[in-house]
Amino acid sequence: EKGGWPSFMSKEVSEEPEAIANTLRGRINNGAVEIPELDGLDGLFEGISRIVVIACGTAAYAGQVGKYAIEQWARIPVDVELAHEFRYRDPVIGPDTLVVSISQSGETMDTLMAVKFARERGARTLSICNTQGATIPRESDAVVYTHAGPEVAVASTKAFVAQIAALYLLALHVARVRGTMSAEAIAEQVDELEAVPTKIQRILDTESARITELAHWMADTRSVLFLGRHVGFPIALEGALKLKEISYIHAEGFAAGELKHGPIALIEPGQPVFVIVPSPRASALLHSKVVSTIEEIRARGARVIAIAEEGDAAVLPTADEVLRIPLAAPLIEPLLAVVPLHLFAMGLATAKGLDVDQPRNLAKSVTVE
Ligand code: BG6
Repeated sequence: EKGGWPSFMSKEVSEEPEAIANTLRGRINNGAVEIPELDGLDGLFEGISRIVVIACGTAAYAGQVGKYAIEQWARIPVDVELAHEFRYRDPVIGPDTLVVSISQSGETMDTLMAVKFARERGARTLSICNTQGATIPRESDAVVYTHAGPEVAVASTKAFVAQIAALYLLALHVARVRGTMSAEAIAEQVDELEAVPTKIQRILDTESARITELAHWMADTRSVLFLGRHVGFPIALEGALKLKEISYIHAEGFAAGELKHGPIALIEPGQPVFVIVPSPRASALLHSKVVSTIEEIRARGARVIAIAEEGDAAVLPTADEVLRIPLAAPLIEPLLAVVPLHLFAMGLATAKGLDVDQPRNLAKSVTVE
């Protein structure tokens, strides 16, 4: 079933382009986003005043990326909560709240219980799920399936990018219904989304070998840090989670702006730090801030591996290694920047001789609370 790949994870990373293309299919019509599963729900989308996203693990990071898009495009405030935290406080939710759950398996008990709790409190519920007919979509008012195909490796990869694609479709669908974006502006984002599979394929084709080599050099590394800003922040968290899950290496992701408020104390000579660099075309300010972050940590001896767009020359004198991603709109970048991080985690686990598909202590779907 691995189709010649050494592991399910390597097969599934190679399927990231397809997972996104299949998730977009049938939901885009002439530059407009129309999700057939959401037909008849315009009233719901017009009536809500906030969205709460609930999920666990990688799915929660997809939710954090989705927050930026939903707020920017559909102008609805979004909170992202870990399902197990959400349920054990006294959240302010009601009929004007749409609770969006995200789950690859659709069976994660923490997420399921949070969905049930939200319904009891009168909230409306929508599930983003990769498994047809699973419990969470059945317990929800509406469902938007991701079409990533079955994911076998415990660490989620193609489901993660498909979840972001589904959240973006949802954001554009709601933006149309609520009239917060012009048809032209929606069509521009749709074009960008449709170009993602080819761009991911390019990263897989051009960067895989180098990333594997880098991972081999780093096989003895004891700790890796990940920094990002804006949508790069949840991608930094995802990069760190993957490394913990399958490489058993201490890893942490930080918002780059938070560095000087504490984490910079961790930087000592030789400390590897991945930095996700936003495009200078979208925001010269954000870009220059991240470049100065690189300079600050380099001055303290960090070994910097930058993930930056093709042609961004500002990172060359500052970073030790630069992994390239194709040019894309700002909200599209996380779908590209995460690919080298998935490859890196896999490369490092492989270099350490670990089972990348079945990491110790973890299960693909946690059906107990
Ligand atoms: C964890 C898995 O137990 O559950 C993670 O190890 C996953 O990879 C998380 O992200 C959430 O799972 P699901 O099925 O709800 O997306």
